[in-house]
Amino acid sequence: MSAEGGAAGYRIQFAEGGPEFACMPGDTMLRAALRSGVSLPYECASGGCGACRVQLKSGEVEDLWPQAPGLPTRSRDRGYRLACQVRPHSDCTIAVRLPAATEPSVRPRRQRAKLLSRETLTADMAQFSFAADAAEFLPGQFALLSLPGVTGDRAYSMCNLANKDGEWRFTIKQMVNGAGGKVLFDNMNVGDEIVLDGPYGLSYLRASSPRNIVCIAGGSGLSPVLSILAGAVRSGHAERKLTLFFGGRRPADLCADHLIARDELLDARLTRHYAISDLENSEGWDGERGFIHEVARRHIEAGGDPAGNDYYFCGPPPMTDAVQRMLLELKVPVNQIFYDRFV
Ligand SMILES: Cc1cc2nc3c(=O)[nH]c(=O)nc-3n(C[C@H](O)[C@H](O)[C@H](O)COP(=O)(O)OP(=O)(O)OC[C@H]3O[C@@H](n4cnc5c(N)ncnc54)[C@H](O)[C@@H]3O)c2cc1C
Ligand code: FES
Repeated sequence: MSAEGGAAGYRIQFAEGGPEFACMPGDTMLRAALRSGVSLPYECASGGCGACRVQLKSGEVEDLWPQAPGLPTRSRDRGYRLACQVRPHSDCTIAVRLPAATEPSVRPRRQRAKLLSRETLTADMAQFSFAADAAEFLPGQFALLSLPGVTGDRAYSMCNLANKDGEWRFTIKQMVNGAGGKVLFDNMNVGDEIVLDGPYGLSYLRASSPRNIVCIAGGSGLSPVLSILAGAVRSGHAERKLTLFFGGRRPADLCADHLIARDELLDARLTRHYAISDLENSEGWDGERGFIHEVARRHIEAGGDPAGNDYYFCGPPPMTDAVQRMLLELKVPVNQIFYDRFV
């Protein structure tokens, strides 16, 4: 392939041999691999985690975010790059250890999506609904949104299920001074268009597992967990117990109940535990208090069989790190643990 790419794209090969794939000009190395069905390792697809690190042996790439926190300068100097943050400008050869697990069946694609509605949930959270040509994804996956005037795509997890109407729904928290949040919450109007790329993500519902399901969410970590629970309640296994632990800082942050009430099947089957962590602002709250992983631990230990459940959890890194540590201490096998860190 020529250095200009072309209709067939640039050829990306592995130094150790194995599958090669084409990367169309403008695409990132990671997304091109996943679109071709090649399983490069990754987690966030947003430059934050470092899981997609590859060593560039030959070829030219454009670095979309040289300061991305997922890659220390020392690794960059040794020729490493983040596959989710590089755009090839020639054929390339890379060295990387390929994961044993295979990709989910739905391959990601880019499409235009129109804002259908924005529903306020709390002081800093809202539900956004977008219409695209197709909405194919697994419960728990996420999409990368390219927002007008914002450098770099933003990852948001779907809170609904795949559907024929092409609807992608997200529960989103507005971060202080966040560029993407500003566009979504303040600048966009119903009918405005964005580019949506997805689905991505490996912490999707393992629907055929017969084990009980425990979901733990902090803040906007509720989004993928709503999708996972909605998928689980429709995937047979009527005897399977479904439990949600949802934590916020203040009582007003706990917006899960009225969203769950919209899904009759889930509402009837789901056991819920809500907790607040800001004890100074707990007026009128007679529920549980403390960090959500501490509350979850009490209940999981009281249940007597921590390893009898599959665990799905999402939220900010301090929360997901704490839950991960807790589950390892409780001797839950790693193949029953699925999570997204909202880096
Ligand atoms: C897998 C995953 C799923 C997520 N799901 C949800 C969800 O369902 N709901 C939710 O509210 N949040 C979710 N998040 C978190 C969400 O992506 C961040 O809160 C969001 O990126 C904040 O964007 P911002 O523009 O408002 O903030 P900013 O502070 O402006 O940007 C934050 C992030 O944007 C990216 N970024 C910043 N600058 C650049 C650049 N120059 N080039 C490329 N990238 C850049 C980085 O990822 C950075 O960490 C998820 C995160 C991940 C990783
Ligand atoms: S997948 Fe590339 S940094 Fe997380």
